[in-house]
Amino acid sequence: MKITVVGAGNVGATCANVIAHKELANEVVLIDIKEGVAEGKSLDMWQTAPINLYDSRVIGYTNDYTKTANSEVVVITSGLPRKPGMSRDDLIATNAGIVKSVTESIIKYSPNAKIIVVSNPLDVMTYCAFLTAKIPSSRVFGMAGILDTARYSAFLAEALNVSPKDIKAVLMGGHGDTMVPLPRYTTVAGIPVTELIEVNKLDAIIERTKKGGGELVNLMGTSAWFAPGAAAAQMVEAIVRDQRRIFPVCALLNGEYGMKDIYLGVPVVLGKNGIEKIIELKLNDAEMALLKESANAVKQVMEVLDNMKVVA
Ligand code: NAI
Ligand code: 2OP
Repeated sequence: MKITVVGAGNVGATCANVIAHKELANEVVLIDIKEGVAEGKSLDMWQTAPINLYDSRVIGYTNDYTKTANSEVVVITSGLPRKPGMSRDDLIATNAGIVKSVTESIIKYSPNAKIIVVSNPLDVMTYCAFLTAKIPSSRVFGMAGILDTARYSAFLAEALNVSPKDIKAVLMGGHGDTMVPLPRYTTVAGIPVTELIEVNKLDAIIERTKKGGGELVNLMGTSAWFAPGAAAAQMVEAIVRDQRRIFPVCALLNGEYGMKDIYLGVPVVLGKNGIEKIIELKLNDAEMALLKESANAVKQVMEVLDNMKVVA
């Protein structure tokens, strides 16, 4: 089995490294447009195999998509990251061109692949890949919800001084400041989170989560990669091991939550066919209002992409 990661930058290299360490495929192809970068990072990773005792082989290539042929899953991380002062949406023009050309090359050599988009602005780049790939939306989806939920869960674990393993949470909506963490669906070892933490502390954690990406951009001068790379690898794992895990994933809605023709973060069952099922939660009025607000923000950026006519 072969898995391809496009973009050997911070997120792509981290993702390929996690995939190899988990031995999710015997061959992991890493592709970048910059001469030698994918080759160099792959070689460096391969030299960790005798130390960390795994045998998945990561091999890097400069823009040679023939080497990606027949990939089971492809992760697209190519594109510019955010710099301080930039929103994810500022990246749209450049990254749409990159995502479009990469998707065309991927589909040419792996028409049956499941495509996981990571490039920002996430919801709209996933839509861009879907328009380009012309394959069922069950095979084109985006990674953001696992990352955003991980940030929310990590903040909660810290505040409660408990293991992050025991936090179970659902977070929906777009990958932006309008994302919707759902306290009503957050438990700690089965205990509703609201029984364990004061409302004002929980509200502060929700606000920090919404701006979690920006917090890291401000600290590091570029966006995060350890958690994003691990989150994308977790989606790959669910697919190649047909785990049918339930994750928040950026998926095309077709009537779910009363919405159509929009890519938005919702809980899905992820398995060997990609999105096996979209789960429709019974949101209350307040939660639904927040989800609609988030959807409107995503719709606006989708319209920007439509008007650019990057994708025919
Ligand atoms: P990076 O700058 O470290 O890496 C991007 C890589 O893409 C570079 O190595 C670059 O040479 C390569 N690239 C550019 N054009 C290419 C093309 N046409 N074909 C192949 N490779 C190409 O950036 P980083 O930090 O890895 O972030 C990558 C993307 O992921 C950014 O758009 C960032 O905003 C996004 N991101 C999304 C997250 C999410 O939750 N969805 C989380 C973190 C980052
Ligand atoms: C993140 O959330 C910027 O999307 C990137 O870290």
